[in-house]
Amino acid sequence: MPKRDFLSLAPLSLKSFNWLLLRAEEYKKDFVLLRPLENQVIGLFFEKSSTRTRVSFEVAIKRLGGHPLFLSANDMQVKRGESIADTARVLSSYLDGLVIRTFDQQDLEIWAKNASIPVINGLTDLLHPCQILTDLFTICQKRGSLKGLKLAYIGDGNNIAHSLLIGGAKAGMQIAVASPKTRQPNKTIFTQAAKLAGESGGSVSIGTDAKEAAKDADILYTDVWVSMGDEDKKASLVKKLKPYQINEALLEQAKADCLVMHCLPAHRGEEITEAVMEGPNSVIFEQAANRLPVQQAILELLLKK
Ligand code: CP
Ligand code: NVA
Repeated sequence: MPKRDFLSLAPLSLKSFNWLLLRAEEYKKDFVLLRPLENQVIGLFFEKSSTRTRVSFEVAIKRLGGHPLFLSANDMQVKRGESIADTARVLSSYLDGLVIRTFDQQDLEIWAKNASIPVINGLTDLLHPCQILTDLFTICQKRGSLKGLKLAYIGDGNNIAHSLLIGGAKAGMQIAVASPKTRQPNKTIFTQAAKLAGESGGSVSIGTDAKEAAKDADILYTDVWVSMGDEDKKASLVKKLKPYQINEALLEQAKADCLVMHCLPAHRGEEITEAVMEGPNSVIFEQAANRLPVQQAILELLLKK
């Protein structure tokens, strides 16, 4: 069987998508006694900071009987110019799988192309599929299903917005993105999501009006204004994104039982107010906790021998 990677939610079959959601529920309930990663060593190569992705993957790998090996990019020869292709080939002869957090999605694809072991996207500038699969799982747990639900993403048109467009469209949801004119999601991603929505009966839209997007939403979602790698643009991003805060006034536009979500880390008082983050609609910390069972399911799907 050819090795499987997890670089984006787009190529995932509906069968695998549904299996992952069901399996994650079993992991969450502690119903799975299997140790599908017994004796396997999974490398985590991270070029950016991480709390949730790194720790939840390390714990998930241990719970499945495997061994995580954290590889800080700063201590590897890639930092001194060794090619990704050569590194991927060498690491494939020691490891059973790789979780990569990097900047450019194309670099991730070079990793995947040259590694003979499964490669998992632990975040790139373009996509964050493990996060969004967790978010869809969290919504499913709260609402029973995904089809037809309206999710409004308010904020920067970044990796989170992109994976929400793709994953939500695949699941038949209505995804409405509101971002400043100069920070809209990537056009290619939007086209890909629109095609998926056409197949699933969902819809995708992009605009600049946060109030309009939030109207009657079942879910309000936001993310940091300054993503990793965008620090040099901080002042201009903060200025542009000021009108894109999830606060009590915006929450009033949504359905009364609307779920408030954030992938974290959060900057209270910027993209979300303290009151909304800690309010009754927020499922943010449960969402973070769900990274663990969802990634256990992803690891089993890709790595079970
Ligand atoms: N949400 C998320 O991926 O968090 P980390 O950057 O801490 O991994
Ligand atoms: N958009 C954020 C997500 C962090 C999980 C970033 O890339 O920094």
